[in-house]
Amino acid sequence: MNRQFFSVAIDGPAGAGKSTIARKAAASLGFVYVDTGAIYRTVACAALRSCADPSDRTSVEAILPNINIQLDWQEDGVQHMLLDGEDVTSEIRRPEVSGLASVVSAIPAVRQFLLDTQRNVAKTHNVIMDGRDIGTVVLPDADVKIYLSASAEVRAKRRWLELQERNRSDTYEEVLKDMQERDWRDMHREIAPLRQADDAIAVDTSALNLEESVSAIEKIIREKLTL
Ligand code: DC
Repeated sequence: MNRQFFSVAIDGPAGAGKSTIARKAAASLGFVYVDTGAIYRTVACAALRSCADPSDRTSVEAILPNINIQLDWQEDGVQHMLLDGEDVTSEIRRPEVSGLASVVSAIPAVRQFLLDTQRNVAKTHNVIMDGRDIGTVVLPDADVKIYLSASAEVRAKRRWLELQERNRSDTYEEVLKDMQERDWRDMHREIAPLRQADDAIAVDTSALNLEESVSAIEKIIREKLTL
């Protein structure tokens, strides 16, 4: 296939640092960073607004034909999410939206509905796209595929430190348990479960700091770009 644009797929479990690392690498390469989790979060936001029971599969499916989701990159370099024209970029980070995003992302009709939205960005831009199924389902022909992970203990420690900074009282043990449960759900769902694509390069960031992780990813991408 003769494609005009270069695409990088980064998948991995929650808390591996995908979004921070991908955003920094994209800025340095001049690529567009696509946070696909934000797109699932936007569907969750729509369900919260429009469904009497937002965790009911049938009611979520029913709203899909009527919602319009757009990605918009403004001068701040942030990927803004528009739901029916309204900027919901902050709203999608609320805890109730996070919880529901994991529920709606397991609905096959939702995943199908979002496929074109994600693929269209890669057809028109050089992208680094992060998620759970980018290298396996969304962009199976991506030029570079990276599976970014770290041990559950390291990921939980990073998340716990973030929460401490926000003066949250969650214990490390609670954060670790939550991380392990999310891993299990992401890896065992029926549709598009999280797994390393056969042709993905595995990068374990357990022993790397942020700068070292970004350099490792950039090195892999730049090597492929110069081939
Ligand atoms: O990465 P995140 O926490 O913003 O993702 C929100 C939810 O969407 C999370 O529960 C996993 C799901 N997701 C997915 O199923 N597939 C993707 N490509 C990206 C996210």
